[in-house]
Amino acid sequence: MRFGVFGAGLIVSAGILAVQAVPGKAAGTDEDAEFGVLKVAEGVEETYYTCTACHSERIVAQQGLSRAHWDELMEWMVEEQGMNEIDEPDRTLILDYLSEHYNEDRPNFPRR
Ligand code: HEC
Repeated sequence: MRFGVFGAGLIVSAGILAVQAVPGKAAGTDEDAEFGVLKVAEGVEETYYTCTACHSERIVAQQGLSRAHWDELMEWMVEEQGMNEIDEPDRTLILDYLSEHYNEDRPNFPRR
């Protein structure tokens, strides 16, 4: 029997893993965290919940595509990856969101 290790001071200090703020965004970090790295704007909620059913929102955020290309990607996601067809008006809302905030100039590319 090895009761000797009790009280030896093995304290797991999980509390040290503090939640980190989203870089480059000083304010509204609580809200930001709710949608991962996605920019909080109109359509973020629909985008986040639709697109994180299968993978991280980072896969979305790290892409920079034109509207037409996002449209194709959503078709591809339905045809090849088993995503359910997104009903309107959500599909357009998500497409608007993606092409505004994750276009080819990558204005919101995650830095971390
Ligand atoms: C039914 C599951 C599913 C849903 C829902 C889904 N995806 Fe995907 N997505 C996948 C899979 C699986 C892959 C990886 C495909 C591969 O790399 O072979 C992927 C990959 C991607 C990629 C990377 C493509 C590349 O060229 O590497 C992007 C961008 C993406 N998804 C965007 C989205 C967006 C935007 C949405 C929401 C509109 C979404 N996904 C919803 C399954 C899904």
